[in-house]
Amino acid sequence: MIIILNFGSQFSHLIARRVRDLGVKAEILPFNTPAIKIKELNPVGIIFSGGPASVLEKGSPRPDIDVFSLGIPILGICYGHQVIAYMLGGEIERGKHREFGKEVLAIKQQSDVFKGLESKEQVWFSHGDQVTKLPKGFMTIASTEGCKCAAYEYAQKNIYAIQFHPEVTHTKKGTRIISNFIFKICKAERDWTIDFVAKTIISNLKSQIGKDHVIVGISGGVDSLVAGTLLYKAVGKQLHAVFVDTGLLRKDEVKNVSDTLRKRKFDLHVIDASKLFINRLKGVIDPEQKRKIIGHTFIEVFEETIKTKLKKYPVKYFAQGTIYPDRIESAESSKHASKIKSHHNLTLPDKLGFKIIEPIRDLYKDEVRRLGGVLRLPKDLLWRHPFPGPGLAVRIVGEITYDRLCILREADWVFIEELKKAKEYEKIWQAFAVLLPLKTVGVMGDARTYEYIVALRAVDSVDGMSADWHKIPNELLEKISSAIVGKVRGVNRVLYDVTQKPPATIEYE
Ligand code: XMP
Repeated sequence: MIIILNFGSQFSHLIARRVRDLGVKAEILPFNTPAIKIKELNPVGIIFSGGPASVLEKGSPRPDIDVFSLGIPILGICYGHQVIAYMLGGEIERGKHREFGKEVLAIKQQSDVFKGLESKEQVWFSHGDQVTKLPKGFMTIASTEGCKCAAYEYAQKNIYAIQFHPEVTHTKKGTRIISNFIFKICKAERDWTIDFVAKTIISNLKSQIGKDHVIVGISGGVDSLVAGTLLYKAVGKQLHAVFVDTGLLRKDEVKNVSDTLRKRKFDLHVIDASKLFINRLKGVIDPEQKRKIIGHTFIEVFEETIKTKLKKYPVKYFAQGTIYPDRIESAESSKHASKIKSHHNLTLPDKLGFKIIEPIRDLYKDEVRRLGGVLRLPKDLLWRHPFPGPGLAVRIVGEITYDRLCILREADWVFIEELKKAKEYEKIWQAFAVLLPLKTVGVMGDARTYEYIVALRAVDSVDGMSADWHKIPNELLEKISSAIVGKVRGVNRVLYDVTQKPPATIEYE
């Protein structure tokens, strides 16, 4: 394993991705993780990430000094490059000008970390400070016009550092540099393959769970589906899957997901609570109130199911489909961030005293999808767009009624089917229909209509934190609009949303 000490760079995830894509496990840890803890994890190499601070600032982040005595190879990147030099006796100065963007790197000395590179290479910088004097024993191995010490090494001590970012694609041979570090210097083995990951997770789950029983909540999304399937492979009938039909799910969702799980002989409990949810949401139009009602009702239904249907099993664990970015983001999320929406997350384990088990906690989304492929889950389910916990409720602006849910479910289905037919679906991060609380006048077959407006939203995004509206070709938009108005009773007008996030959010509520 390679450990990445995170000094606050927005690219730390990218470093981890690059290492994993090269077939080696990577784990991101806080910059100040004690050396003793790092040693226990037995990594073959440590990468210090970049970060927004200046080592010259008081209180700026420092690693445990003992990390340098572990005898484990170290690669410093950007802030990492500066902090190593500074802590080991070098000097840093505020640069006269900041370097941002592409630069030409001139390699001055042969180094294992630069094997396979030309004498001049395009790299990508983003820094203000720079190393002006190296500690004893260290040697500059590359520079640029604006940065004399753009890379250095102390080969006998296995310490290497670069001022630029090898993890971004603008550094042309960046992956080669990371590969040189992990294979030539750290002598890592290429054993992080999805098959290996699947086998390891299943065997760990088997030994962790033993003869106990586990509950998993199935949401219909990829993560809980993959987590559940891994658990089923590990403990079979000791797993009990609960899928709550809130009445707020997409068309055919309950059937598709249940069929997939039942085919695999899961002990699956599909709880039809749609009437309860829709009754509780009657007359509610405030988005936050909707979210709260759904969250509470969900927990209630879940608890009730456990107390009745699962009473006879000695359940010890509650499984969640938490993935790696969820963990990192919640650990780093600021207490001061303003609350935009209350997310619908299950807090049952706390209430019922279960132990939490998170089978895919170390994986990124695309790794989860690949893992789902290895587990032979249907492609359709694995590659579906994200869907919010509160479901269609946050896509019906205004009151939720059974009729309005039917209209939206149908319009959404027509929209998604047309995108799939046109092969546009896979180009989009998330697409869905929204039902507005407005009726307008139309004309159909010479008769006046007075019906609802459907808004279509399709966005390109990486993580849902920011998003751009997707440029659906005009001809396709026209086809979708005609299909919706033609096939969905109760709709006579279709709008396309061209707002970015921010300022708008992706969902409407
Ligand atoms: P917003 O609307 O906040 O959405 O821009 C960002 C992403 O998060 C999804 N989303 C949710 N996911 N529970 C979830 O699991 C929720 O309560 C929730 N609200 C929004 C949304 O679909 C988008 O992908």
